Amino acid sequence: MSKHSIPLAGVIGNPVAHSLSPRLHGHWLQRYGITGHYVPLEVHPDDLVEALGAMGRMGFVGANVTIPHKETVLRLADQVTDRATLIGAANTLTFRPDGTIFADNTDGYGFIENLRQNATDWDPRSGPAAVIGAGGAARAVVVALLDAGVPEIRLTNRTRLRADQLKSEFGGRIVVYDWAHMNGMLNGATTLVNTTSMGMEGQPPLKINLDELDPKALVTDIVYTPLITPLLALAQDYGYQTVDGLGMLLHQAVPGFQRWFGQRPEVDDELRNVVLG
Ligand code: ATR
Repeated sequence: MSKHSIPLAGVIGNPVAHSLSPRLHGHWLQRYGITGHYVPLEVHPDDLVEALGAMGRMGFVGANVTIPHKETVLRLADQVTDRATLIGAANTLTFRPDGTIFADNTDGYGFIENLRQNATDWDPRSGPAAVIGAGGAARAVVVALLDAGVPEIRLTNRTRLRADQLKSEFGGRIVVYDWAHMNGMLNGATTLVNTTSMGMEGQPPLKINLDELDPKALVTDIVYTPLITPLLALAQDYGYQTVDGLGMLLHQAVPGFQRWFGQRPEVDDELRNVVLG
């Protein structure tokens, strides 16, 4: 806890108005009777260094970080977790009493925890995982799946080079498929993840045929607007188990809140309803 009487935390981004984090952390502060505040902070990239210094001095215990600062903050932190280094980005900062900044990335943790909480009998080790996309979110998902023991990750991306890059970084268990052969990579896969923005409100849906997935496959999407994306709706029509992406957002917030406010918060339906408004 900080030397200041009322601990502060917030989310740093640009833009930041759309962030659901203030609602989420605000609800937990209220639920656990913690005297503290969580605020949205719009910070221009030119002002990031100054803003972080000022936050440390003003009694901030921590911050979430969103677009466009997730990569830059890695270089500005004094200590970085292995998983944030691997992913190449941080989403959770802790301001320590000695003035140093600790950076972590909890996106992959949130991804796995969401599946562990909401999928029945999901075992990442049970078979190959198919991952669509190779952007920032995909990096977190890939690192988390490898860490959870998936035997193989089949990866595809519209821009193949980015998928090849992930393979060269994360190694032997990744197999890259051409975007045009996406359907082929689903054969016998027990997990399917969309990490692209396809299927989000206003974006084109993913065109995919789910015939070849393992009958017990779990299908999930990191998109949560809408909650049931076209991909999840299609998977449900096939009878596959689905988990929506909202839980990833909720779970990625848990380690930060616990570190900053000393209370491990619950992710439950009440929280989902509050965040959905
Ligand atoms: P994020 O951090 O959310 O992952 P990102 O790093 O910009 O954001 O990555 C976006 C991902 O969605 C990428 O895999 C991107 O594919 P490209 O690498 O080819 O750009 C994918 N994506 C976004 N819009 C897409 C579209 N209309 N069709 C196919 N892929 C799309």
